[in-house]
Amino acid sequence: MITLSINGKNTKVDADPNTPLLWVLRDHLQLTGTKYGCGMAQCGACTVHLDGRAVRSCQTPVSTASGKQVTTIEGLAETALGKSVQAAWQEVDVPQCGYCQSGQIMAATALLKDNPHPSDAEISAAMDGILCRCGTYNRIRAAIQKVAKHPLLAEQSGGAK
Ligand code: FES
Ligand code: FES
Repeated sequence: MITLSINGKNTKVDADPNTPLLWVLRDHLQLTGTKYGCGMAQCGACTVHLDGRAVRSCQTPVSTASGKQVTTIEGLAETALGKSVQAAWQEVDVPQCGYCQSGQIMAATALLKDNPHPSDAEISAAMDGILCRCGTYNRIRAAIQKVAKHPLLAEQSGGAK
C-alpha cells in the first residue's frame, strides 16, 4: 500500500511502486481530468503538481509522489490562484477540443505561482512543451497574461466553476 496526499486528502492505494502516477490517478482514484497523451513525457497532457511543481505524471512513479502533496486539475480550484487561472481560461475561451487543457492549466498555474508576472519569454519557456493539437497557444498566452495583470480575476468574475 502506498499512502498519497491527493488534493489535500490522504488516500491509500494498492499499486506497484513503479506504476506511473497517471494511472494511479485515473484508474485507481478515478481522477480522469489528468489526461494520457504520449506516455513518454513529450506532450504534457498528464501534467499535475507535486509540492506545487509541474511534473509529467506519465513518467513519475507513484512511489515518488508518496510524502508529497499531489494536486490535480480536480483540486486546483481550492486555491485562489487556481481559481483565477480557471476563470481566465473561461474568459478567454481557451479550449477547442479540450484534451490538452488540463495539462495546460496545471503548467500555467505552476508558472504563475513561482513567477506572478512572467515575460513572454518566460511563458514560452514554461509552456512550449505542453502540446496542443488544436493550436490554442495564442489564447493560452492571453489567459496567462490576464492572470498576471489581474490576479484576483476569480473573485471579480464570481469564481471559476
Ligand atoms: S502523457 Fe505524459 S507527457 Fe504526454
Ligand atoms: S484544445 Fe485540443 S489539443 Fe489542445
